[in-house]
Amino acid sequence: MEKIIIEGGKALEGTVKTSGSKNSALPILAATIVSGNKYQIENVPEISDVFTMLKLLETLGAEYSFKDNVVLIDTEKITKHEAPYELVKTMRASVLIWGSLLSRLGKAKISFPGGCAIGDRPVDQHLNGFHALGYQTKINSGYLESVSSKNTGGDFSFEIKSVTGTENLILCSVFAKTKTMLSNCAMEPEIDDLINFLNSLGAKITRRGGNITISPVSGFYKQKSPHIVIPDRIEAGTFLFLGCIPGNKIDITNCTPEDLKETIKIVKKMGAKIETSKTGIKVTSASRIQPLEVETNPHPLFPTDLQAQLMAVLTLADGKSTIVENVFPNRFIHIAELRKLGAKINLSANKAEITGVNGLIGANMQASDLRASSCLLISALSAKGKSEVHRIYHLDRGYESINNKLKIIGANIWRTKE
Ligand code: EPZ
Repeated sequence: MEKIIIEGGKALEGTVKTSGSKNSALPILAATIVSGNKYQIENVPEISDVFTMLKLLETLGAEYSFKDNVVLIDTEKITKHEAPYELVKTMRASVLIWGSLLSRLGKAKISFPGGCAIGDRPVDQHLNGFHALGYQTKINSGYLESVSSKNTGGDFSFEIKSVTGTENLILCSVFAKTKTMLSNCAMEPEIDDLINFLNSLGAKITRRGGNITISPVSGFYKQKSPHIVIPDRIEAGTFLFLGCIPGNKIDITNCTPEDLKETIKIVKKMGAKIETSKTGIKVTSASRIQPLEVETNPHPLFPTDLQAQLMAVLTLADGKSTIVENVFPNRFIHIAELRKLGAKINLSANKAEITGVNGLIGANMQASDLRASSCLLISALSAKGKSEVHRIYHLDRGYESINNKLKIIGANIWRTKE
């Protein structure tokens, strides 16, 4: 295991290039199962979750190469329909092969995806959706086994917006015999990247707001050109918040400001200066951070995946701020770690109250989940003195070469063995 050591309190300035989106690359790689063929996917981030997904596809029978952010994958020889426990337990996004396997083989056996550091992660919406579309699922010694006697398609309305739930139901219905109408779908841009990928292969999927329609097609044709994964808006948002720490000035390139509207509004409310272009955001910190009240909600509102990173900034604001976490109510493991640096945070139910302090002092912290780890980095970089962040395998799940990206903008950061 490795840890990161940071000598904090230094102003950071420079350019950061956003990598491809983890939460877009994962469903798109899963989607290559749907029709056995050769695919080229570009701008794929070299992060451990992508390697986990590729290993999972390999256990099913796929062959792949992954170099310089390009995945070449051949799924023609996929015959297995089971996602093993040891892979599903490390990555919840493994559920995404569920829908693809149902389209490809008419059956799927997935180890029950457990909860994780951000709280309970039920799959009832996935199950109810599969049922509505003609699939029967039984739970068998920790595995979910779905099978379809007839891939009928049909109508389903989500009781709660679910990103991978929406993606799974799209993936399981691309070859359905009749039209599938999904409503109250999640609106995250990564879903539209998946839809664009599937449509580029011959699928007929349209979206009108929260309603998604999948019209029947008998099969996919060969990929005409490589698919380029969209930029990672959560990585870009993470650097946006780092740019709000007094003294910092960061130019974030290769990103999509359009996907970060709510986050940019929040950054401006805290007092930072923002200049945007079509594919870039320049953030210049203010000398003082304004406190504010924020809630997390499904896209296009403020994303839960940036909640911890915002909290790191608000620990230094001029006064009291509140953050209400409406998506994963228990997603507050990072609070205990931030308190070690001197942050003043009270938590009741899903509402955190942050009282700004003049400065933080470096300390030893423990990463717990992907986004909380990046929050600890933001605080360690702003704190005076030395910090250590342990268990950074959490960070490497979703942030490509973050050490180098931070070094380029002047951070004193090292990675060593625990
Ligand atoms: C996706 O997870 C993302 N992961 C998460 O990012 C992200 O936090 C989340 O969406 C919300 O935006 C990927 O895309 C791989 P949900 P997902 O189903 O699909 C409830 C990261 O750090 N729910 O949209 O698993 C659920 O409990 C990760 O990159 C049900 O009740 O999340 C939550 O309250 C962390 N029943 C809400 O819906 C279900 O069947 C949203 O969850 C499914 C979900």
